[in-house]
Amino acid sequence: MKTAVFSTKVYDKDYLEKANAGRHELVFFESTLRPSSVRLAEGFDAVCAFVNDNLSAEVIEGLARLGIKLIVLRCAGFNHVDIEATSKYDIMVLRVPAYSPHAVAEHAVALITTLARKTHKAYNRVRDGNFSLERLIGYDLFGKTVGIIGTGRIGAALANIMMGFGCNIIAFDRYPNKELIGKGVKYMTQDEVFAQADIISLHCPLTPESHHMINRETLNQMKRGVMLINTSRGKLIDTEAAIEFLKDGHLGYLGIDVYEQEEKIFFKDLSEVVIRDDKISRLMNFPNVLITAHQAFLTDTALTQIALTTIENLNNYENETIEQANVVSLEMVR
Ligand code: NAI
Repeated sequence: MKTAVFSTKVYDKDYLEKANAGRHELVFFESTLRPSSVRLAEGFDAVCAFVNDNLSAEVIEGLARLGIKLIVLRCAGFNHVDIEATSKYDIMVLRVPAYSPHAVAEHAVALITTLARKTHKAYNRVRDGNFSLERLIGYDLFGKTVGIIGTGRIGAALANIMMGFGCNIIAFDRYPNKELIGKGVKYMTQDEVFAQADIISLHCPLTPESHHMINRETLNQMKRGVMLINTSRGKLIDTEAAIEFLKDGHLGYLGIDVYEQEEKIFFKDLSEVVIRDDKISRLMNFPNVLITAHQAFLTDTALTQIALTTIENLNNYENETIEQANVVSLEMVR
């Protein structure tokens, strides 16, 4: 199928071309998909998009006008796709529901261990010839209570890793995972998790219900000095509230791989540009905040799987052998 691949980075092209092995005609665009770039999809059968592409009703309508019948997402999340619109215009949306939950869970662990032991500061200090240990006191993870919000594939992988550290795991999910319960994970209400955890890690999808689940009220429920980790979606956290709670020390540590307004910042080299987003600039200035730019998925294992499933989705659409588990349907957002 002739497919327009948006938001292409060098690694996307490398992994997709390898998985494709010349079967489909893939044309790579560095541009994100947005209202002003829709026209690039003219003459194509399908578009391939990533997390920060704009798949709003306006864009979907534009794609429908160009005769696009298929959108293949190189990601699991689909909160950025207007599924009402794709359904209205009869455009099929296929995603990669699971590639490597371990990649994301292990990145969450990297954020946790770095913040707990201040290795981000130690690294810079030693490079600067400063071998002093002053103000580098960290804390043991052993015996701490880790609260996991959303124990699907990634949350479950994180629970298993943190049990290995000797942490107590408490969790909130409407659908408790029996295997985790068997291993000692305790399910409770979201409020109870917020109140009891020393470290809270978010692993639920972004939905209207979970939008700003971390806000002034829920931050107030948490222990003073709590560590908050978000590798899920930026809009789960009200950034302004988080900044307020970081300033007064209630929020002790914040590790984020996703950010509310990341579409304008992440995946770009802005090192020579004045950053106009005051919230991210403020966050970058806290010593106890660690930010990575949506890289939790970025491992060889995950990229290989994303590319293979994306090409498989194109093959299956062409052969009319759709893998139902990969379909993003209207029922999933209602
Ligand atoms: P999953 O679908 O396997 O698990 C999500 C879990 O969250 C489910 O068990 C569900 O019942 C639960 N859930 C839904 N709403 C909830 C709520 N309001 N409160 C508590 N639990 C809730 O998804 P998976 O694969 O574990 O991914 C989780 C999220 O991680 C994705 O939605 C995506 O936003 C994010 N992600 C981030 C990546 C990154 O590179 N930073 C890469 C891949 C995914």
